[in-house]
Amino acid sequence: MKKPKTQYVCQNCGYSSSKWLGQCPSCQEWNTFVEEKTASKKGLNSQGSDIKFYQLEDIEKLKFQRIPTNIEEFDRVIGGGFVPSEVVLIAGEPGIGKSTMLLEISNELGKANKKVVYISAEESLKQQKIRAERLKITSNNIYFISETCIESILSSLKKVKPDVLIFDSIQTLYSDGLQSSPGTVSQVREITYQITNYSRLKGAISLIVGHVTKEGVSAGPKTMEHMVDAVIYFEGDKYHQFRIIRPVKNRFGSTQEIGLFEMTELGLKEILNPSAYLLSERPYDRPGSVISVISEGSRAILVEIQALVSDSKFGIPKRLTIGYDPQRVNMLISVLEKIGGFFLGNEDIFINVIGGIKVKETAIDIAIIAAILSSFKNKVINPKAVLMGEVGLTGEIRSISNAKLRLKQAEKLGFETFFLPASNAKELKTKNIKSIKNINDLIEGI
Ligand code: TYD
Ligand code: MG
Repeated sequence: MKKPKTQYVCQNCGYSSSKWLGQCPSCQEWNTFVEEKTASKKGLNSQGSDIKFYQLEDIEKLKFQRIPTNIEEFDRVIGGGFVPSEVVLIAGEPGIGKSTMLLEISNELGKANKKVVYISAEESLKQQKIRAERLKITSNNIYFISETCIESILSSLKKVKPDVLIFDSIQTLYSDGLQSSPGTVSQVREITYQITNYSRLKGAISLIVGHVTKEGVSAGPKTMEHMVDAVIYFEGDKYHQFRIIRPVKNRFGSTQEIGLFEMTELGLKEILNPSAYLLSERPYDRPGSVISVISEGSRAILVEIQALVSDSKFGIPKRLTIGYDPQRVNMLISVLEKIGGFFLGNEDIFINVIGGIKVKETAIDIAIIAAILSSFKNKVINPKAVLMGEVGLTGEIRSISNAKLRLKQAEKLGFETFFLPASNAKELKTKNIKSIKNINDLIEGI
């Protein structure tokens, strides 16, 4: 086979070279060269074909039929179901449960009479069989292949004409046309391009697995995000059962909704009542435990925040935070010291958001402060109380979004006292709202 010509192009300035270079001679940037296929002479000179123009009213109304997976938590995240031709990237750390979820999705789609091809580029067929037995997969509509060359895969698909394709994972596939090794930027791009083309042409849904490293971004998923229709991140802590799927891009739906799962012995189980799940082991009579509410899309979820404050045995006090921004916790501690008048300089302070959940919004600020105080003073906080509000640098309590939704959810779960920012409180009519303006109100209130 004749090798297609490739060249190396600096991704910063566009300088091209026939060999890979560490530093670009033109813009002096390091590590910016990526292998690319050279355009053929013919391609450059050709006139192209005549293209038709459309006005809005000429375009046929998009009346695509959604294809649900029947896994409620997943369907909500993708906007009700897959759209034909859709290409979805499922990204997450190795071992988090991507293959497990995709096999379960394959099973559901198979049961709904969709033909699924599962390309297991990473694992042998035997490993797939073991997983399938564990998950009690019953559908006979799933066709497995263990192959890594994208050209061979796509040309073999003629035989089955699948409705759904699963590529597990993009980092282990390679294209014949490129010399670089699997997992490199150029390979990942080329393969995604070929998959997207195939899907568009044949109307098949493609789900692509992409591994992300602990640091968050890896060359793989980030470089392909713009080429696919939806990107779903699989989050969670490998050592906890709790898993969250979160869309970061969705051409056919919202990116507000999240899906919650629990990794069990028998695969992923949907968590339909996350608040109850997260509060299930909560201690009612212990200092340092406080409940707050986070808002995720159309849902509000109750979370437990724990703090442990104890005398430091060494010169430098320890500070450890799990599930929230540690810098933000340091800031809250400073506010508590400077404005609240507490001295915490000799205390070790540990904060944990229970369940391995990672909170990204600031509405739990006052719950963190309350948990710290509760542990520091060794006083239990009313177990029927929930606290929500953002804390500013001057100690003021700032308003939160979706206050009504959060309050409703807390009421539903039997909570009776609600600490809310004054600005939110005045718009709500629920009884037993404790309106707080600043951190001193909070200290008094609890
Ligand atoms: P896996 O889906 O292979 O992760 P990924 O494809 O994201 O790398 O799942 C990884 C972990 O999940 C593995 O360590 C075992 C565990 N697991 C369960 O706890 N229960 C199960 O039913 C299965 C299939 C896996
Ligand atoms: Mg896997």
